[in-house]
Amino acid sequence: MQTAIGTDINIAAAFLKAGELVAIPTETVYGLAANALSESSVAKIYAAKNRPSFNPLIIHIANITQMHEYAFVDEISLKLAQHFMPGPLTLLLPKKSTVPDITTAGSKKVAIRIPNQALSLALLSQLDFPLAAPSANRSGYISPTNAHHVMEGLHGKIPYILDGGDTAVGLESTICEVAEESIILHRAGSITAEDLAAVTGMKVVDAATYHAPVISDHSTDSPATPGQLKSHYAPHTPLYMGHIPELIQAHAGKKMAVISFHTRYEGVDNFILAPDHQLSTAASKLFATLRAIDNSHYEIILSEQFPNEGIGIAINDRISRAQFILKH
Ligand code: TXA
Ligand code: MG
Repeated sequence: MQTAIGTDINIAAAFLKAGELVAIPTETVYGLAANALSESSVAKIYAAKNRPSFNPLIIHIANITQMHEYAFVDEISLKLAQHFMPGPLTLLLPKKSTVPDITTAGSKKVAIRIPNQALSLALLSQLDFPLAAPSANRSGYISPTNAHHVMEGLHGKIPYILDGGDTAVGLESTICEVAEESIILHRAGSITAEDLAAVTGMKVVDAATYHAPVISDHSTDSPATPGQLKSHYAPHTPLYMGHIPELIQAHAGKKMAVISFHTRYEGVDNFILAPDHQLSTAASKLFATLRAIDNSHYEIILSEQFPNEGIGIAINDRISRAQFILKH
């Protein structure tokens, strides 16, 4: 199969209506999209990405009204949707039977978001079905933040990549779930726990530390986010995160790439993510930088720990999941 890159939403819509896969831009990372209501189309996503069948997909919709067609939406979730959507937030909600089991990998919950990207919003509003779309990378590799990245991983496996340029945020969406007494944060992103707490007045707890109340209903039975259980986003080159001068000493003699926020390290190949000292800039550059390093001839990647505040929490989460040590 030939893979074309273009900006024509009519071509993208035609492929999707015919049951094919199309990579789409979002404000976070590129997604590998298919008709979320078609079992055979969704099956193609798992195959093209080599994604384990137990790992459910996020469905992408055009507006909040559509959310009610696919999920039971409680008041707090609706409030979050009205505040943050379109935007980099995914809500985990009890699923309606309109969504096929394959899309949620058998889960009774469905993850839903409205991407804040003009081309994809225009595309979604001309379709009469939602789009299931995981990140458009081969399973286990770094998420793509431009059309070229998608081409690197999925060339020959999909007919069309809708090119929306570099993604604005650069890290995957925040995933959360409203439970009885708190909001469960399943994946950190640019919308932070503080942001969620500020809008709802509720406590936000990390999925890793969340324990369902003894008396619980169907919406709180399982906090697991399957894709978050294992190492993820990993470059092929071993990566270590920590105090850079110590790491440089420990790995002396190796050809190393050093990733930093804004500090300059002399005598090594240094990739400074944010000369402007903004964490949002660092987030938008992280994945492209990891890919560029991985495509060069480095033996090792060393990364600073970023300030653990705002989107820095998500940056540290992604870098620590990419670490060599975690995989062995
Ligand atoms: O920013 C994003 O969310 C991007 C863009 C393309 O929208 N998508 C994305 O999808 O990151 P993916 O599949 O790479 O990551 C989705 C995560 C996975 O960890 C998956 O396990 C979890 O969301 N997830 C999806 N549906 C779920 C469900 N029903 N229950 C629990 N976890 C779910
Ligand atoms: Mg992914």
